[in-house]
Amino acid sequence: MPERPDHRITSLAALRAATMACRECPIGEIATQSVIGEGRLQAPLMLVGEQPGDQEDLQGHPFVGPAGKLLARALQAAGIPREQTFVSNAVKHFKFELRGKRRIHKSPAVREIAACQHWLEDEIALVRPGALVALGATAARSLLGRATPVNANRGQWLPRPDGLQVLVTLHPSALLRVDPEDREAAFEAFVHDLRQAQRLFRS
Ligand code: URA
Repeated sequence: MPERPDHRITSLAALRAATMACRECPIGEIATQSVIGEGRLQAPLMLVGEQPGDQEDLQGHPFVGPAGKLLARALQAAGIPREQTFVSNAVKHFKFELRGKRRIHKSPAVREIAACQHWLEDEIALVRPGALVALGATAARSLLGRATPVNANRGQWLPRPDGLQVLVTLHPSALLRVDPEDREAAFEAFVHDLRQAQRLFRS
């Protein structure tokens, strides 16, 4: 994992302020604001997506757009109470390209994921989750520090050097791109992956 800059992040408010000012990669310059994670501290489960989308960038909250609504539905179907999770992203700013007036999502480059990784690690240190879910390849790369293909690893728990386990699954926005006739089966497969984490919520 890359060396972390010399800074001390002791609260989510400090993380928010520091990521707002971050220009370690070019995305910070084009986004409206940084979007850090939200949810329960010491959550049994912290879910990590790719980066804020259009709505998240405008509203300043993670997973509030279409992918977030789908994620909420899948968590409910998997028996995971969202209010007991912490939800965040590997990259804290929205990367997009303008097509006319539309802001089209662009995937972050490997060097941009790496530049943001220390903020995610600060966040994990603050939240102290019981386990992690990587929603898609960007999150898996950031959390595990190496390329981790989703299809070969989905539904599996992979260990990090700090002992935290990472459940790898799809990014919910991948489901939004599935052909309508296959969407229900894809949603069920996603819920099946998430159910691997459901035992963390049983008393
Ligand atoms: N996609 C993500 O990865 N994160 C969000 O917050 C929204 C969409």
